[in-house]
Amino acid sequence: MKPAARLVTILTIVVGLPPLALPQQTAPAPPRQDAAGNPVRRAPTGHVSNYDEAKAAGYTLPDPLVLANGQRVRDAKTWTDRRRPEILELYKTHIYGRVPERAPKASFEVAETDAAAMEGAAIRKRIVVRFGDKPDGPAANVTLYVPAKATRPVPLVLHLMFGPRPSSEPARPMETGPLADILSRGYGYAHFRYTEVQPDARDSGGSGVIALALAPGQTKPEPDEWGSITAWAWAASRVLDYLETDRAVDARRVALLGHSRLGKTALWAGALDPRFALVFASCSGEMGASLARRDYGETVDDVAANFPWWMAENFQKFSGRWSDMPVDSHMLIALCAPRPVFVTGGTQDQWADPHGMFLAQVGAGPVYRLLGKKDLGTTTLPPLDTPLTSGSLGFHYHTGGHTISPADWNAFLEFADRHLKPR
Ligand code: GCU
Repeated sequence: MKPAARLVTILTIVVGLPPLALPQQTAPAPPRQDAAGNPVRRAPTGHVSNYDEAKAAGYTLPDPLVLANGQRVRDAKTWTDRRRPEILELYKTHIYGRVPERAPKASFEVAETDAAAMEGAAIRKRIVVRFGDKPDGPAANVTLYVPAKATRPVPLVLHLMFGPRPSSEPARPMETGPLADILSRGYGYAHFRYTEVQPDARDSGGSGVIALALAPGQTKPEPDEWGSITAWAWAASRVLDYLETDRAVDARRVALLGHSRLGKTALWAGALDPRFALVFASCSGEMGASLARRDYGETVDDVAANFPWWMAENFQKFSGRWSDMPVDSHMLIALCAPRPVFVTGGTQDQWADPHGMFLAQVGAGPVYRLLGKKDLGTTTLPPLDTPLTSGSLGFHYHTGGHTISPADWNAFLEFADRHLKPR
């Protein structure tokens, strides 16, 4: 026993003090920020956030173009028929969780229509997407805008949003897109608040749509069934089901967009539902677009400990063992191929590892090329504030923080214009 430990034991016995945690038995708490202002956190595994590029290198990514049996994927058909389903299944089983068969049915009701919204520039509707058959069950209120002067079905931007929030809560700056610009470019725009589908909180599996899918006596989903990211992604598909019925919208040209945890959700929704024509993941970070094997900023350990409800329970086993994951984010992006994917990050948001998101876009390139599409066009991080929008994989590294900046919106709309041809 070390002298200090002996002293505590003696004190405990003599004075009746409770046994104290000895300072030298636990590592000192890391500072909350490094000199550059990046968050520094110690995960329960003991891992401390790293922002040193030299320490982040040295990982090996799984090859998206090698089948589980070791054979190389050499043509588009083998990718589509065999490799893509393999990767999708791995993501369902181990990472985000599958949609259970008992998932509720969704029904739609157009609750309000304003034919002269935005001073006549738009037709606005509120659609209630109800999950399950109870009138007081979860329901998403979708607000849909269509340019009033549209003469045929329009492509649309579907925005997974944190708001609208109760007026008592401050809005996040990225909360609504540049609506007038989006409409004048010839797109429709729709959004809904993600927590109307499923709460974003620890132990929330007993409410929202996840609770509706529990079998009698079951208190939480199975280890390979949905966490909340899958539930939100699934809801985006139910909104797309509605959009397919709305004659003002061309549902074959819907771009799905989300920021941060909703950027993770947008990527997974794009992987699950090939009807989404394009995905924009803003600052999606760990378990979104950034490579999990790269030890930079937030890690698997942080997500597993701080946001366990986002993921399937099975995901927990990768805490401290990232290289044992059968997938990484370049494969999540590749699940969207050949459909276009646009990814952004910010200089003041190193927690989300913008460089790691860029490298994942690079890593998805071989799959896009195999399918006859143009990749990012470079393997070197582009200069700041210089969007890459000419291929089917796009990237923008903005000067600024954890947000969708006005420049991101411009670059995204330019990228979308190329692929969704609003006019
Ligand atoms: C936290 C979390 C991120 C997430 C972000 C957000 O910062 O660590 O993974 O993307 O919240 O959703 O805003």
